[in-house]
Amino acid sequence: MTDSTRLDGQVAIVTGAAQGIGRGIAVVLAEAGASIVIGDLRSADATLEQIKAAGGNAVSRIMDTSNPAHADAIVSMALADFGRLDILVNNAGLDEPPGNAWDLLDADWQRTIDVNLSGVFYCSRAALKPMIEAGQGCIINISSRASEIGAKGVSPAYSATKAGVRGLTQAFSTHVADKGVRVNAVLPSLIISRDFGWTPAAMMERRKDYPLGFGEPRDIGEAVRYLASPAARWVSGTELRVTGGNQR
Ligand SMILES: NC(=O)c1ccc[n+]([C@@H]2O[C@H](COP(=O)([O-])OP(=O)(O)OC[C@H]3O[C@@H](n4cnc5c(N)ncnc54)[C@H](O)[C@@H]3O)[C@@H](O)[C@H]2O)c1
Repeated sequence: MTDSTRLDGQVAIVTGAAQGIGRGIAVVLAEAGASIVIGDLRSADATLEQIKAAGGNAVSRIMDTSNPAHADAIVSMALADFGRLDILVNNAGLDEPPGNAWDLLDADWQRTIDVNLSGVFYCSRAALKPMIEAGQGCIINISSRASEIGAKGVSPAYSATKAGVRGLTQAFSTHVADKGVRVNAVLPSLIISRDFGWTPAAMMERRKDYPLGFGEPRDIGEAVRYLASPAARWVSGTELRVTGGNQR
């Protein structure tokens, strides 16, 4: 039987893949056969090494997704290096600083909007041009369950931008589905993507909210792989919640 989640011959841009969830997505897509183009503020060498050690193909570029010229440049790099662009994963995002609504500084509000919302728009706009020309492609936006439930300690700017990402997903999907391009969103709950600095007791307390255990970056990678693949050829404008059984 053919595996309809293979991505052989496809080319994927994954933003923010120097670490964390982005790395999990890049590694899973590479295992499925895609060539990977990583754009991140920081060096993605560790992710590149992991992909190459497993026999995959990947390149990277330092970029800031909130800069429209950088968004155009990463798309140009994918086309120059691999000759095509099939998949864009808008993963880069920031959830710092944590805090209360009444403490949020103007600069932190603005930077969160610039990266989490404008960055998704700039990269999507840049990728759509070659995708529409080719009559095929897909965009997967990493939103968050924080877009639909408030959480103490999570910046309201974060929740607002992640809700905005869902709006962009719906808008882009409606605009481009008849051009052969699909646009979907993934809404993760807590993923242990880095050291959050919690005490073991705090970890134990949070663990109680997840009947299936804590999520790992690869769990989001597998969800993205499905949405990017031929198995999801009739899926656009959807929001895939990946929550470990947490219903809150
Ligand atoms: N970890 C979670 O529990 C969780 C839950 C829901 C959604 N998310 C979302 O998943 C995505 C990845 O989260 P993570 O936990 O792996 O984060 P992380 O902080 O561990 O990694 C984020 C990566 O994005 C890069 N980055 C940040 N701003 C950038 C910019 N402007 N341009 C390019 N690269 C940039 C960083 O350098 C880093 O490599 C984010 O969009 C986040 O909001 C995370």
